[in-house]
Order: sequence, then structure tokens, then C-alpha cells
Amino acid sequence: MKNVLLTIEKNIQVGQDIYLMSLSGDVSEIKNPGEFVEITIPNYYLRRPISVSSYTNNSINLLYKVLGHGTKDLSTFEVGTKIDTLIGLGNGFDISKAKKPLLIGGGIGIAPLFGLCDAFNKQGIKPTLVYGARSIDDIVLVSELESKANVILCTDDGTLGFHGNVIECINNSNIDFDYYYACGPYKMLQFLSLAYPNGCVSLEARMGCGFGACMGCSIETTKGAKRVCKEGPVFEANEVIF
Ligand SMILES: Cc1cc2nc3c(=O)[nH]c(=O)nc-3n(C[C@H](O)[C@H](O)[C@H](O)COP(=O)(O)OP(=O)(O)OC[C@H]3O[C@@H](n4cnc5c(N)ncnc54)[C@H](O)[C@@H]3O)c2cc1C
Ligand code: FES
Repeated sequence: MKNVLLTIEKNIQVGQDIYLMSLSGDVSEIKNPGEFVEITIPNYYLRRPISVSSYTNNSINLLYKVLGHGTKDLSTFEVGTKIDTLIGLGNGFDISKAKKPLLIGGGIGIAPLFGLCDAFNKQGIKPTLVYGARSIDDIVLVSELESKANVILCTDDGTLGFHGNVIECINNSNIDFDYYYACGPYKMLQFLSLAYPNGCVSLEARMGCGFGACMGCSIETTKGAKRVCKEGPVFEANEVIF
């Protein structure tokens, strides 16, 4: 974990209430796709956790949805603004688990899968990616994803891609995979883990400290209580007690 000052290089709207922020600075502490950062937003006591969407040696991208006041404020930050950020948080995804990976993103849960695609691409693997959301307006950056993965889209209302949720889409698509990596709404991850135990899920929890000190983000697993911020956010699907 490291506390760094990052500079906003870009902060643009890319979908309905969805923003892409690029930040530059020393991010060498980030080791794995799926890690997250904690962003200080002035006037808020608690930092806000956001997944690292993708990263290089000296920059990161964050893809975030405006939900409440903190993320609303974040969306107004201008290029050049410096942000106090904790980086190198959480365990991230283990790409060694899959030879034929399936990536599954639900809604804003697509965020960390960009960097995961990059990691697989560096190994010469183009993963399959199922990306689902409520409606066409909630689906973002498709052409970028298509350059990194074989993308299958689905929407609950049928306005783009397969008409149905990601589980129905996977059941209908006959995808050849040996391990999956999923991030998205709690219910989606719960149903996925029941249908397909051979994968991992990236979880969210309300967080206090973000680095393992307060126990505020504990969840139940088959191996006892674990902290989403420290032992997670990525857990084996069959380990989480939903
Ligand atoms: C490990 C981790 C990674 C995350 N990555 C991303 C990401 O890449 N992109 C993104 O858009 N969001 C991500 N989130 C969620 C993000 O942290 C919250 O949306 C954000 O903190 C909301 O802040 P706010 O001040 O706008 O909303 P608040 O005013 O704090 O809350 C607004 C609403 O959002 C709910 N909420 C707030 N925080 C969370 C949370 N952690 N989990 C579930 N519901 C919450 C509240 O209950 C309330 O209903 C992540 C969360 C975690 C724990
Ligand atoms: S948020 Fe404090 S231990 Fe996880």
C-alpha cells in the first residue's frame, strides 16, 4: 500500500452516469489487475474505493458510476487536479488459474476487467468476455473491449446483444472455458457461484479504512470471516457464503 498524489489527465462521461478518469503519477505499487484504490474526495471523511480499471507504469484508468454525492463531486474534477490516493490495495485477479478464461462483467463491474484483459493479452490469450447491463445506455467502451477480448453483450431489456441477464447469456452461448473471473452486482455473483463454482468473484463492501485495520468490510466464507479490502476483493466463487 502506498499513499500517492495523482494528477487527473482526463475525466470524461462515457455512458449514462458513467465516467472514465485517467490519472498520472507513481503507480508502481500496483501489481495485479483487480486491485483497487481509495480516493480522497475533499469534504468527505471516508475515502471512496474504486477498482483500477487498467494501468501502466505511470498511469491508471478508473471507470466509475455516479451513485451519491462523493462520486458526483468526483465527476466534476477538472484536468490538472491532484488527488490524494491510496494505491496497491486488495489482492487482484490470479491469471495463472485459467488457460481458457471467461470474464464476466455486470454493469459497472466491467471496470476491472479492462486490466484483466490486458494481462491475458500479454500472455498471448484473447479471453471471452460476457458483458451485461440493464440497457444499452449502461454499456460502455465496447470497441476498446473488442480490441482485447471476444465480447458477448447482453442487456436485461434487449436493447443491445442477447436479451437477458449474464447467466442466461452464458447458458445460451456454449462458451468453452476452464475458469471465470466475475465482477458485478451481488445477486449476479451469487447466482454465478451457484451455477458455476469454478471461478472467482470480485466483491464490493462498504469500507472504512480500506486496508485491513477496521474489520468493517468482513464477509463470511467457508474459511471463516475475511476482509474484502485485504483478503479480497477477489475470492474463489465456492468460498464465499452469499
Ligand atoms: C473494492 C471496491 C471496488 C469498487 N470499484 C468501483 C468501480 O470501479 N467503479 C465504481 O463506479 N464503483 C466502484 N465501487 C463502488 C464505489 O466505491 C461506490 O459507488 C462509491 O463509494 C459511492 O460513493 P458516493 O459518495 O458517490 O456514494 P454514497 O453517498 O457513499 O452512497 C450512495 C449509494 O451507494 C451505496 N454505496 C456506497 N458505497 C458502496 C459500496 N462500496 N458498495 C455498494 N454500495 C455502495 C450507498 O449505500 C448508497 O445507496 C467499488 C467498491 C469497492 C468496495
Ligand atoms: S475497510 Fe477496514 S478492514 Fe476492510
